[in-house]
Amino acid sequence: MSTTIELQERALPPHNKIEGGFGLLRQPGIVIFGAGQRASIAGVVESLGQSALLCTDQRMAVSAEFADIVSALKARGVSVSIYADIEAELPRTNVEDLVQRIAGESIDVVVGIGGGSCLDMAKIATVMLTYGGDVASYYGEFKVPGPTLPLVTVPTTAGTGAEITCIAVIYDPDLEMKIGVASPHLGASVTVIDPEFTLTCPPGLTAATGADALSHLIEAFTAKAKNPEPGTVETFVYVGKNSLTDMHCRAGLELMGTALERVVASPSDIDARSDAMLAAMHAGFAINTTGTAAVHALQAPIGALTHTPHGIGVGTLLPYVMRYNLPTRVPEFASMAELLDVADPGHSELENARAAITRVDEILTALRIPADLEALGVDSGDIPSIASHAIKATRLTANNPRELTEESMIRILNKAFTGDRSWWS
Ligand SMILES: [Fe+2]
Repeated sequence: MSTTIELQERALPPHNKIEGGFGLLRQPGIVIFGAGQRASIAGVVESLGQSALLCTDQRMAVSAEFADIVSALKARGVSVSIYADIEAELPRTNVEDLVQRIAGESIDVVVGIGGGSCLDMAKIATVMLTYGGDVASYYGEFKVPGPTLPLVTVPTTAGTGAEITCIAVIYDPDLEMKIGVASPHLGASVTVIDPEFTLTCPPGLTAATGADALSHLIEAFTAKAKNPEPGTVETFVYVGKNSLTDMHCRAGLELMGTALERVVASPSDIDARSDAMLAAMHAGFAINTTGTAAVHALQAPIGALTHTPHGIGVGTLLPYVMRYNLPTRVPEFASMAELLDVADPGHSELENARAAITRVDEILTALRIPADLEALGVDSGDIPSIASHAIKATRLTANNPRELTEESMIRILNKAFTGDRSWWS
């Protein structure tokens, strides 16, 4: 079974409280958000250079929106190279193909337009165009030696947060696993986030990306705090829950209280699409320094086994991991109840915490996320192997608020396999 390689990082001791208001954000230099704001892309790119490489996929490359962006760039005198063959899951061979095709060209700025793979490809392209060599030499954390070519990210889905994050995930066919290149140097100079791109997003992709963003907000908001020593923060990529990521989690969760169900009911409602995309952006800000936790640790081997889309897998797992984490995160889940507008001041903190979890269940049901692992194609006999792979994802499990063991993961997986939500511990 293939899985995601875990990035080695010095361990930080986990804490339940944020100390001294500690906060850490890494973010694009400029964030432009709003319906129709893709009209800003050409001007943004021109301000960064005179020759641009656009990284996208074949679906986007033939769209009217993409043609408009290319025309606007050319009208400003910016020379345009296009790589439009980006594949899902971004295989390493795809990166090597891009490097070969643009060899000898002079590129000033790289623009990623599309879903997570397109944005991740653009991040990697900035590294390869700046430093060259073998892409495998950048696998891991802090392996990118310094600043790279300017990067502009333009997401066309509302979920991965890849427009904000400083990690690119690649599938390496030789290693038979996904692997991350994580570096603060991968942050975008500018991100242009236009929710109009998502108006044509099909229901399945909307559900997968929406559930992914929701899981990011919840995993970041309920993560362990790690409180690195002053003076050491630049040596860590992920530092757990902190005061600045909490701000983004609160804003994102408040939007998620209605956004995803409104998108499902009215896919062409630009206000709903805008709220969902803004929530996904907030989630990107949060996970970029908190990291994710048990939901993502468990999804990696399930995705490898069943080829379930990432967002569908995390959406299926989320109700069970929330229940497992509840005993150690009652105040946070009770806060979530307020943000999701289901808190009752007459109820106890624990009752409100449970109400938040039940509300998330409802949102996932509205998205038609499968309710159990069997529906994803998992066999009950796979569960021990899934748990043994997931427990090795220490970068992720270290963020989880409640300690995880192989046995506790098997327990979560058994509940998720049968769809049993009749428990709260
Ligand atoms: Fe995710």
